[in-house]
This record gives sequence, C-alpha cells and structure tokens, in this order.
Amino acid sequence: MALREFGEPKQLEQFLLSRLAKREVTDIVHKYAKPYKELMAYYRCAMMEVSAKFNVLNEELSLQYDRNPIETIKTRLKSPESIVEKLQRRGYPLTVESIENNLNDVAGVRVICSYTSDIYMLADAFIRQDDITLLSRKDYIEDPKPNGYRSLHLIVEIPIFLHDEKRMMKVEVQFRTISMDFWASLEHKIRYKKELPVIEEVEKELYECAIVSAELENRMERIQKLADQYRSYEK
Ligand code: GTP
Ligand code: MG
Repeated sequence: MALREFGEPKQLEQFLLSRLAKREVTDIVHKYAKPYKELMAYYRCAMMEVSAKFNVLNEELSLQYDRNPIETIKTRLKSPESIVEKLQRRGYPLTVESIENNLNDVAGVRVICSYTSDIYMLADAFIRQDDITLLSRKDYIEDPKPNGYRSLHLIVEIPIFLHDEKRMMKVEVQFRTISMDFWASLEHKIRYKKELPVIEEVEKELYECAIVSAELENRMERIQKLADQYRSYEK
C-alpha cells in the first residue's frame, strides 16, 4: 500500500493505530475471551447435570416419603469480578487455566431442604452415584461456624459429555434447610464479606438467631415425624 494514499502523516498514524487496535482486540479475544466463555459454558453444563441429579432424587424420594425433600434448587455462576478478586486475593495467576485449577466454587448449586435429615439423605445418595467424585466435605451443621452459620458444603467433580470429549468439572454444592438459608441469606446481606467492623451486639444477636432458628427447625422436624408416625398407623 503506497504511503501517499494517506496524504498527511497524521492519517497514516491513525490508520496504523486502528489496525493495531483491531489486531490486539482479536488477539485478546482468541487468547482469553473465547476460552473463558467456553469454560463458563462447561460450568453451566456441570450445574445442569448436578441439578438434574437432584431433580431425579426429589422425584423418586417424594414417592417414598409422600413429600418433596427438596424445596428449591438454585444455581449460580461466579461473576468475572468475583473470579478476578478471588484469584488476586489468593495470589494465583489471572489465566483461564488458573480459574479451573485453583477455584472450586465457580459453579455453585444450592439445594434447600425442609429438614436436616433430608440434607444427609440427599447428600449421601448424591455422593454414592458412581460418576460423582467427592473432593471435599465441610459439615457446618455438625460443627457450625463461630458466627452461627450452618450448612453442608461439598466440592465434587462431575463429568460433562461434549460432542467429542468427556470433561470433569468441579461444582460446589451447598445443602441448607429453609431455616439455615433464611439465616444465611439475611446474615450475608448484613455482614458477610462486607467491610462491617465487628459490632459485638450484631454478632451476638446473629449467633442467637442462628440458635433459635435451629431450635425451631428441630421442633418442626419433630412435628413432621409425629405426623408421619400417625399416618403410618392409619394405613
Ligand atoms: P469462600 O472463599 O468464601 O468461598 O470460602 P471458603 O473457600 O473458605 O469455603 P467455605 O466452604 O467456608 O464457604 C463457601 C461458601 O459458603 C461461601 O462463599 C458462602 O456462600 C458460604 N458461607 C460460608 N460461610 C458463611 C457465613 O458465615 N455466612 C454466610 N451467609 N455464608 C457463608
Ligand atoms: Mg465461595
């Protein structure tokens, strides 16, 4: 291309800059955006697989128990901002491979049950499935966090079947009862990860509310068991 086509040097500079920018954008898209989008799509597929498993268990167990052990299944994909923030905070490289290797909670599935016994029954049935690999288990029901937080957390690996390959994906599964979820959702809004300083009265009240909500849940579970016993005598 003849330089004189551009007349003024300024025009040439603008042309080169715009070409450079376009190439850079294409490079960035190829290097990061495409693999990132692909990885996020795989995580979405893994969440679908996990949700499907719980929907199947809910359907099957509802026949056995005359009620649905699962109230709700929620899924969430970690936002790009949270991914970058967590990688930086933990000192990991900001690359697509690093996301997959270092973060366990990009794909999150929350299973909300009526009672604690439903949680253990579902978690056990889920882990027993032969395509699920359990990577870690944190039982904050047996051993609540000092602030009162209760929930059962599993990190699992599940295969997703793509058109030409099978890929293992990590998913964080959180099991909560309605009452654990009620407390955790409000506590999250109030203070979890926020820059709120430790206010003794707030901490104490939250902790007491966690105890009260656990007691209420135990009483409701006891009522459910009494009603179940009554129904089984009637049959
Ligand atoms: P994160 O870096 O926050 O993911 O925590 P972690 O890797 O130490 O794992 P942990 O299993 O303790 O917590 C994982 C997730 O559980 C969090 O991202 C929250 O969704 C939830 N969680 C844990 N602790 C609390 C808590 O005290 N309050 C609330 N509301 N949620 C919590
Ligand atoms: Mg997390």
